[in-house]
Formats: sequence, C-alpha cells, structure tokens
Amino acid sequence: MSATTTTTGPSTLLKTPSGRLFSQGTEFKYGDFRDDILQNGYAVVNGAVPRDRALKYADDIYTWLEEFKLGFHRDDRSTIHKDQFPDINEKGMCLGYGISHESFTWAVRQEPAVVNAFEKVYDTEDLTVSLDSVNIGFPNRKDIKPNSPWPHQDQDPEKPGFRCLQGLVNLLPNGPKDGGLIVCKGAHWLSEEFHANFKDEEKIWSWTKEWYGFTEAGQAWLEEKGCEWLKVEAEPGDLLLWDSRTPHYNLTSETDQDRFCVYTCFMPVADATKEQLQVKKMAFEETKMTIHWPNAMHVVDLPVFRDGEADPYNRSKPREPVKLIERGFKLTGIPYLEQMA
Ligand SMILES: [Fe+2]
Repeated sequence: MSATTTTTGPSTLLKTPSGRLFSQGTEFKYGDFRDDILQNGYAVVNGAVPRDRALKYADDIYTWLEEFKLGFHRDDRSTIHKDQFPDINEKGMCLGYGISHESFTWAVRQEPAVVNAFEKVYDTEDLTVSLDSVNIGFPNRKDIKPNSPWPHQDQDPEKPGFRCLQGLVNLLPNGPKDGGLIVCKGAHWLSEEFHANFKDEEKIWSWTKEWYGFTEAGQAWLEEKGCEWLKVEAEPGDLLLWDSRTPHYNLTSETDQDRFCVYTCFMPVADATKEQLQVKKMAFEETKMTIHWPNAMHVVDLPVFRDGEADPYNRSKPREPVKLIERGFKLTGIPYLEQMA
C-alpha cells in the first residue's frame, strides 16, 4: 500500500493507510474489520476458516483427547473429568502434551484467511506466528476450581501504543452464554491515560512485564469512562482479534456447549531480533510452546501435574512430526533467520 498525503498548512493529514494499522493517525476507513479494531479494540472476521473445516478441527481435538485412552469419550458427558483426559485448567488452557504443534493447531495457524487478516493489519507478508496454546473449555466442571475473571491486558504498561494484535480461531458455536472471550470495548484508546493514573497503585503480581491485571479500582475507572465489558459471540471458523492493550478475560460456559479455540497471534518478523528468532527456531524444532508474543519472548516449559505428581501422560512431542506447507514454515521465522546469517 502506498500513502497519499495532503499537506494542509503545518500538519500533514494521512488520507490513505500506509504501513501497519495504528502506526500513524488516519481518517481513512478501511471498510473491513480493521475499522472495528481501531474503534473498539477488537474485531470478528466472520468465516476466516470455512465452517466445515473449523468443525473438523474441533472433531480432531475431541479425537486427540480420546486418544489418551484415559476414559474420555465425546458422547459420554460423565467422562469430562481431569482423571480422564489431559490436564486442562479452569480457564480451558492446555499447557503440555505438545499441543502447540499438533496437526490441528498448525492447520489453523496456516489457514490462508487467518494469515491474510494479519497481513492486512501489519501491511506485510513477512510475519511470524506464535507457538501458542489451544483452549479446551468444557462447561459444568466440578472436578476443578471455578474460573474467576482475571481482567488484564497482555502488554507492558510502560510500552504504550499498538504493538501486538492477538487472535483466536473459534471452532464451535459460541453464543452469548457459551463462555469465551470478554473484552472491554474501546478501552485500548484509554490505555495510556489509565496507566498514568494508576502508575503508583499496588500491582497484581505477574510473571512477565507484558501482562497487567486490572484491580477493582482499575475496573471502576474504566466503568466511569463508559467502557463496557462485552461477550464476543462467534460461529465456528470466526477469527477473533484484539489489540493487546484491550482489557480482556474469558468466562466458562453457562450452557452445555463446549468451547474450543486455537490462539493465533502474528507479528512482523522485522519486530523480532535475531536472538528472538533463534529462540523461536529452538522452540519450533523442540516442539515447545510459546506465549502469544510471536517473537518467542517467553517459551512455556511448565511441569504438568496429575494427582500432584508429574503427569506420566505428558509428552514433549505431538502425535505426528510437524508437517508444514511453505507458507507455514515461513511463519516459524526460520527462513528469515537463515537470511540474517
Ligand atoms: Fe490475555
């Protein structure tokens, strides 16, 4: 995309977009989901994955769970229990078992319209994708602790501005009470003002600077500013996107509907350092998980427990070796690293 600018006195008004979204002020309307990201801090790209393919990926996840042969079967709801499938926490996060590199996870990451949405936002095809997790949310679980809201933003308050677009591909019907992503509409615009106001507060502990938890006082401030918390509804195959500054969390379903999704977060390769790409290469080759930052800012290598002991069913590899199309391999960042050598 090229920029067309009109000079009006001392200031220059950008008429058409140039470079990545948010990089400069603009009055331009894209006429697509990017307008929603700009205005509301989040967007839904309907049908980014064709519905039948999304449902097939959900089916693959049920099969994956069943193949542990711990007792879970999709047709018997009484088998939804921590003893009968891999460790999945109250927020639906599965953080082991090589799930970041399973066939369904990589298939979703390589979906052309998913990749294309991020290409549009960053105005480049030279992207790298996070090696992030999958969310497997079952309703009515009594075998684990309840999922309490943890409103947060996934960005260091001391590093303002648009830095990262997060995403997930929703795989099952996801209505208003079905559990899933809750966002604070429009609060990304208030992020800098918010953090200026709250810089001296006692912070909620975080293991990374790239996470900030909103206290009750912080939530009240957002409410006073007129921000609303909304449940994002989605159909199978919809891509949900949000600015990392947008406050968000997830809720468990109040219905009998399961909620499955694959996290998909992309950023320009140019935003990653050579050292980060080297870490990313290691994570890919050793089929490790990363957090949502695609520059492999943190590799997730946590122990997985079963009955208080290391889970003997945990594994470091997916069921099959990772097979990628050419585009998918580029998204690992490895070809770019080789160019830097
Ligand atoms: Fe988050």
